[in-house]
Amino acid sequence: MEQKSKTMNNKSFPLKVIDVKHETKDAVSISFDLPYELYETFDYKAGQHLTLIFNINDKEVRRSYSLCSSPVLEENIRIGVKRVKNGLVSNYINDKIKIGDTIEIMPPEGRFYADSKKEFYKTYYLFSAGSGITPIFSIAKTVLNTEERSFVYLFFGNRDQESIIFKKELDELKEQFPERFILVHTLSKPKTSWFSKNEFEFRKGRVDEESVNWFINEYPPYAQNTEYYICGPGKMIEDTEEALHKIDVPQNRIFKEYFGSGKEKKGIESVDNAVLIATLNGDTVETTIPKGKTILRTLIDFGENPPYSCEGGVCSTCACKLVKGKVAMKKNLGLSDEDVEKGYILSCQSLPLTDEVEVEY
Ligand SMILES: Cc1cc2nc3c(=O)[nH]c(=O)nc-3n(C[C@H](O)[C@H](O)[C@H](O)COP(=O)(O)OP(=O)(O)OC[C@H]3O[C@@H](n4cnc5c(N)ncnc54)[C@H](O)[C@@H]3O)c2cc1C
Ligand code: FES
Repeated sequence: MEQKSKTMNNKSFPLKVIDVKHETKDAVSISFDLPYELYETFDYKAGQHLTLIFNINDKEVRRSYSLCSSPVLEENIRIGVKRVKNGLVSNYINDKIKIGDTIEIMPPEGRFYADSKKEFYKTYYLFSAGSGITPIFSIAKTVLNTEERSFVYLFFGNRDQESIIFKKELDELKEQFPERFILVHTLSKPKTSWFSKNEFEFRKGRVDEESVNWFINEYPPYAQNTEYYICGPGKMIEDTEEALHKIDVPQNRIFKEYFGSGKEKKGIESVDNAVLIATLNGDTVETTIPKGKTILRTLIDFGENPPYSCEGGVCSTCACKLVKGKVAMKKNLGLSDEDVEKGYILSCQSLPLTDEVEVEY
C-alpha cells in the first residue's frame, strides 16, 4: 500500500480549468493549471488518477479520473471524462465545466502506473477500451518518450470510428515513434460509410479473449521483458486477463484498473451497532456502526474526514488497516490478496463482523 501518504489528510486543492476539449460527442478532456507551488504535491506517475470533488444538488460528490497527460511531457495536468448513461458527475463535467472554473482536486494516487526509467528495455502491451484509454495514453506517451529502447503495443477497443478518444493524438504518437509504437484499433460496430471516406485501418470486434490472443500472436514481444496493462469495462478486463493467463503470463506482470462495476457480495451478516475505534491522522475516535453502514460512512456521518473517492470498492483511496476485529467487504476491486493478507481493508466496503472493530488510516 504505497502512494497513501499524499492523501492521508484527505486534502484537496482548488485548480483552475484552462482548457476544455470535446474529444468525441460524449467525452471531454479537461486541463488544469498547476501552480508552481503545487508541482510536488501533484507529482504523479503515468497511469495514476485524481479525485475531483463537486457539490451537486447540495451534496458533496467525489469521483476518480485518470490523468491522460504525461508527467514527463506536460507541465499542466489533464483528465479525460466520458459520459456514463444517467451518470451524475460524468454528465455534469461534459455539460457544465468551462474554462475559468475552479474544481477541488485531491492529489494523484493509485497503484496502476508504469514507473518508467530511461534504462528500461521492455515490451509494454496495453489493452484498453472506451474511456479506459486515459491512463493507458499517459503510459504510452511516457514510456515512448522516456525509455529509448522500449516498445509499446496498444490494442484499443471502441464502438465505432467516431467514439475513439484521443484518436488524433494517438496517430501523432504513431508518426513520432513508427518503429516502437504499434496501435491497433478494434471496433465493435464500425461505420462503413465513415470507413470509405477515410483511410482508417481497424479490426472488427471487441477486446476479448480471442482478439487479445490474435493481437499477441500477430505482434510478439520484441523485448522479452514484458508487462501488460489493462483498463476498460469489467468484462473486457476479465477477458483480457483470462487470455493472458492461458498463455502463462505471470500475475505479477499484469496490471489492471477498473473504473467501476463488479458484483457485490450479498447476504453479509454484519453486527448491529458494533463499536468502531478509528485512528485518523494520529487522532483516535470511538463510535458505533449502525446496521448496514460501512466504516467509511460511519466516520463521515460522525463528522470525521477520512480519505475516499469512488466509494465503489475500486480506487482504494479509502484503504485502512484493520487492527482488531473482523469485517466483510461487499466488493473489492482495489486491494490485492497480498494487501488483504497484510490486514488492509477498503473502509467504503467494510461491514463489521465482530462487536468491536479497530482501524488505522
Ligand atoms: C481509479 C478510477 C479511475 C477512473 N478514471 C476515469 C477516467 O479516466 N475517465 C472516465 O470517464 N471515468 C473514469 N472513472 C470512472 C469515474 O470515476 C466515474 O465512476 C464515472 O464518471 C461515472 O460517474 P457518474 O457520477 O457519472 O455516474 P454515477 O452517477 O456514479 O453512476 C450512474 C450509473 O452508472 C453506473 N456506472 C458508474 N460508473 C460507471 C462506469 N465507469 N462505467 C459504466 N457504468 C458506470 C453506475 O453503476 C450507475 O448505475 C474512474 C474510476 C476509478 C475508480
Ligand atoms: S473509496 Fe474507492 S475503494 Fe473505497
